[in-house]
Amino acid sequence: MALKMGDIEARDLDNLFHPWTHLGQHKNNGPMVLERAEGVYMYDNHGKQYLEGLAGLWCTALGYGNEELAQAAYDQIKQLSYAQLFASKSYEVGIELAEKVNTLIPIGKSRVLFGNSGSDANDTQIKLAWYYNNVLGRPEKKKIISRVKAYHGITLAAGSLTGLPPAHNGFDLPIREDRFLYTDTPHHYRGAEVGESETDFASRLAANLESMIQGEGPETIAAFIAEPIMGAGGVILPPETYFKKIQEVLNKYDILFIDDEVICGFGRTGSPFGFQSYHLSPDSVSVAKAITSAYQPLSAVVVKEEIYQAIADASDKMGIFGHGYTWGGHPVSCAVALKTLEIYERDKIFDKAAALAPQFQARLAKFSDHPMVGEARGMGLIGAVELVSNKRRKSPFEVPGKVGGQVLNFCHANGLICRAIGDVIAFCPPLIITSEQIDELFDKFEKSMSQSLDWAKKEGVLLD
Ligand SMILES: Cc1ncc(COP(=O)(O)O)c(C=O)c1O
Repeated sequence: MALKMGDIEARDLDNLFHPWTHLGQHKNNGPMVLERAEGVYMYDNHGKQYLEGLAGLWCTALGYGNEELAQAAYDQIKQLSYAQLFASKSYEVGIELAEKVNTLIPIGKSRVLFGNSGSDANDTQIKLAWYYNNVLGRPEKKKIISRVKAYHGITLAAGSLTGLPPAHNGFDLPIREDRFLYTDTPHHYRGAEVGESETDFASRLAANLESMIQGEGPETIAAFIAEPIMGAGGVILPPETYFKKIQEVLNKYDILFIDDEVICGFGRTGSPFGFQSYHLSPDSVSVAKAITSAYQPLSAVVVKEEIYQAIADASDKMGIFGHGYTWGGHPVSCAVALKTLEIYERDKIFDKAAALAPQFQARLAKFSDHPMVGEARGMGLIGAVELVSNKRRKSPFEVPGKVGGQVLNFCHANGLICRAIGDVIAFCPPLIITSEQIDELFDKFEKSMSQSLDWAKKEGVLLD
C-alpha cells in the first residue's frame, strides 16, 4: 500500500537513518509519521486515527498524554533537573525509586543499579556476572547462555545475547564467540517432535541445556538469561514445567539466572512480573520500558545482595566500581517512574489488566480457526498469531515476512497498529485498554485477516 508522500515524508527519507527497518523498502514505501496520541489512540500527520495495539515498542503501559506523568517530569525539572550517582553523589528520587523497585521485585534483599535502556541493563548484567566471578577468583566462569530467538537488546554485548539473525548479521556479533552460547527456543508448536507433550518437550530442552553445560564445563558457565515470555522473537510462551526444569539445572551447576523483564515486567503477563507468572527465582532482574510507561528513558538492574556484597567487599583490591552512565537513573526519569508506579498501584492497573486478560486471550484464540493461522498464543495482555501457508503441515511461507508485512499494511489501513515479526503478528496494547477497545482491536484485526486471506489466495501463497 503506497503511502501518500508529502513534505514531511520526503524530509524523513532524506535525513533519517531508521533503526530495525528494511532500508530498501523504507525508501520505496516511506514512513508512517505519527503526530499526536492520547490514551490508546495515535494520530498520523494526515489525521488518521489508529488503535495502538503494541504499546509503542511494548512499553507505553499507561497510554499517551498522561497529565500526571507530564507534571511529575515538569516538577522534577524545576527542582533538580540533573544530578548524578557517580562518586557517592545521590538524590532523593533515586533513593526512593530504588526502595520502591526493591520492594516490588521480591527476590530477597537486593540492590538497584540504574541505566537508560533495556540494552544497557543487559550489558550491565553481563559485566556484573563477569566482575562477580573475577572477584570470587573464578576467572574462567564467564560464558553466558542465551536462547535462539531471544531478544535482549542491540548494543555489542546485549546484542550478543540476542538470538535473532538480523541483530548479528553484518555486525560481527557475537562479540566473543567463546563467551555467548544459545540453547533451544522453548516453542512447543515449532520445536516439539510429533506427539511430544509440553512437559516432555520441556524435559528434552532442560536435558539439552544440561548437556551443553557439561560439554562446555560447568566451571566455565557464569549465567543463563531469559525473558519469561519471549517478546520480540515472536511472543513465545514456554511449555509447561520448562522454567522449573531449567532452574533445577542452573542450581545444580551454580549458574546465575538473569531474568529479563523488559517486556514482561509491570503487569504485562497477568502478574506484576513474569517471574511470578512462572514461579522463577532469579538472581538478578532487568527492567526498563514500562517502569516509566515510556515517558522517560530508564532501566534498572536489580541484583541480589550477595552479588553486590561480593563486589563491594572486593573494593580495596579492585578500586572503584568503574561502571555507570551519565543518564543512569536521571532524576527526571526517576520522578516519572515513581509517579508511574504510584499510578499502577493507586489505579490497580495490574489487577485491571489481569481481569481483561481472559477476554483478550479468548478473542486472540479464535484466530486459531483462521485458514492462515498456525498458532494463536498469549498470556495476560500480550499475544501473537503465527501465519502459515499450510495449517496442517505448519509450513512457513516461501518468502519469509512478505505475508506478515501485507497483514500489517491491512491493519494500518484499518486503523490498527501492531507488529509484524516476520510472519508473526504481535499484540501488546497499553494496559489501560478497556474491554470495548479490546473488541475494537480484534474486530479491526479480523477485518485485516479476511482481506489478507483474499490477497493471499490471489497471490497464490497458500499451499494445499
Ligand atoms: C526483553 C527485552 N530486553 C531488552 C530489550 C532492549 O531494550 P532497549 O530497546 O530499551 O535497549 C528489549 C527491547 O525490546 C526487550 O524486549
